[in-house]
Amino acid sequence: MFDVDPFDATDDPLSRHRRPRGPRDAAAFHFTKLLRFFADAFFAGRYGHRAVVLETVAAVPGMVGGMLQHFRSLRRMEDDEGWIKTLLDEAENERMHLMTFVEIAQPNLFERLLVLLAQGVFFFGYGLIYLISPITAHRIVGYFEEEAVFSYTQYLQQIDDGKVENVPAPKIAIDYWKLLADARLRDVVIAVRADEAGHRDVNHALADAYLKEDRPAARKAVIDRIDEAARA
Ligand SMILES: [Fe+2]
Ligand SMILES: [Fe+2]
Repeated sequence: MFDVDPFDATDDPLSRHRRPRGPRDAAAFHFTKLLRFFADAFFAGRYGHRAVVLETVAAVPGMVGGMLQHFRSLRRMEDDEGWIKTLLDEAENERMHLMTFVEIAQPNLFERLLVLLAQGVFFFGYGLIYLISPITAHRIVGYFEEEAVFSYTQYLQQIDDGKVENVPAPKIAIDYWKLLADARLRDVVIAVRADEAGHRDVNHALADAYLKEDRPAARKAVIDRIDEAARA
């Protein structure tokens, strides 16, 4: 698991926060908070639309990181310590979030245009950040995912308060997360939020592994996280 200082310590895996340490962390943290501000202003309480649009972006970093780790392994003729698969799995998992939420909310034309723009910016922008500073890149995703956990908690609250209808879960979600046949949106949001918490921990661990120049440590962190998720 990633380093947790006393300030960050919490028994609740949903409210885990990695306090920024150093300029790279601070940049990643404030960049995330800036994007959060715009996302809150744009989507307001429309969590279904928020999920659809943001999941299209969330599925980019894992693919870019996985690709760049693949090239790194080729260039250095060095084993990747399982990083490539971890990152590609993350991208696939995020894409499944999108496939699920698009069954629940249909993006409008403006949102579709936003997705096109965001994909271009994220592919090139995140790729560039990753090439310059992989630590910052993974830290950014770690902080994005902290926000994702928070947003899905808010979404859940809206469902529990009756402000969002607790519709039946889409079939694709029931199959993917092996939910009960009568599962509902609430169950889906809980499953997605657990995935986001996993991405958060893994990406913070990858950033830490770079920092400590201990790549195998990240493999252990990933395995620990999978074990923790299995116990939950
Ligand atoms: Fe997601
Ligand atoms: Fe995520």
